[in-house]
Amino acid sequence: MSQGQGTALITGASAGIGAVYADRLAQRGYDLVLVARDAAKLNELASRLRDETGVMIEVLSADLADANDRRKVEARLQADDITMLVNNAGIAVSGPTISMDPERLDAMIHLNMVVATRLARAVASGMAQRRKGDIVNIASVVAIRGDQPAISVGYGASKAYLLAFSEGLDSELSSYGVRVQAVLPGATRTELWAKGGIDINTLPQEVVMETGEMVDAALAGLDQGERVTIPSLPDIADWVAFKADRAALGPNLSRRLPADRYGSRSSGLAPLPKAS
Ligand SMILES: NC(=O)c1ccc[n+]([C@@H]2O[C@H](COP(=O)([O-])OP(=O)(O)OC[C@H]3O[C@@H](n4cnc5c(N)ncnc54)[C@H](OP(=O)(O)O)[C@@H]3O)[C@@H](O)[C@H]2O)c1
Repeated sequence: MSQGQGTALITGASAGIGAVYADRLAQRGYDLVLVARDAAKLNELASRLRDETGVMIEVLSADLADANDRRKVEARLQADDITMLVNNAGIAVSGPTISMDPERLDAMIHLNMVVATRLARAVASGMAQRRKGDIVNIASVVAIRGDQPAISVGYGASKAYLLAFSEGLDSELSSYGVRVQAVLPGATRTELWAKGGIDINTLPQEVVMETGEMVDAALAGLDQGERVTIPSLPDIADWVAFKADRAALGPNLSRRLPADRYGSRSSGLAPLPKAS
């Protein structure tokens, strides 16, 4: 029975980061809806967590790449009991773009971007009406390193989309009391790497975080009201400075005339001063 936290729906709960979110949110008293394709793994996890915590757990086996299955999940997200969505299901296809199987590239972009967006959209309006809810989007630190793509360019770009979507959606929803958090893990020890064709043991081990520590940090970030959580980043001031530099570009990003360096007629206008 719910201990007042309502219900959290977690996608990709059968393994890795999603399974740890299930564990931690059950410990916090959330009822759960667990979504992934592997029903046997979901049922095993649900049974253990029911025994350990007494919360109510539904298993919703769904292939989110399939439109009918995705609609079932969207419908479940529109129920009034949902107080949290953890948009976690994702895949990483590795390798150079020019040699990547286009169908696998398409599947990755679809799951990491389109499905995450559709699910957030499905849950957001009810949360806004109820003035309560958290949408947690599991992006990645590769979202901010498009210049140094790890895993693959498409993977990094899909996570950059999710970060931008999260920040924008948070702006839209914050006045309704709905929080949108983007979590940007670095390398985290899960099966994702092997599924993407990379042996995680070949990475320097000082860059690899254990999954439990990553999720605990992400939840602590949410508790502290962070909208972007980078579990590895020692000093949050570095993220604040990054955002301030980005914001300082703002006044000069859309102007009537091109900049002088492009050789067109002078705007006669000096660049607007940066915000202090
Ligand atoms: N591990 C890392 O280093 C790392 C770093 C940054 C961000 N992330 C992100 O963290 C998220 C979770 O990844 P993970 O590392 O925990 O990977 P994982 O261990 O491979 O787990 C991925 C989960 O997604 C589910 N999933 C995959 N395709 C699905 C589909 N079509 N429909 C429904 N569920 C599907 C899988 O379940 P089924 O196979 O049962 O469907 C599984 O539960 C991903 O978005 C990933 O990009 C991971």
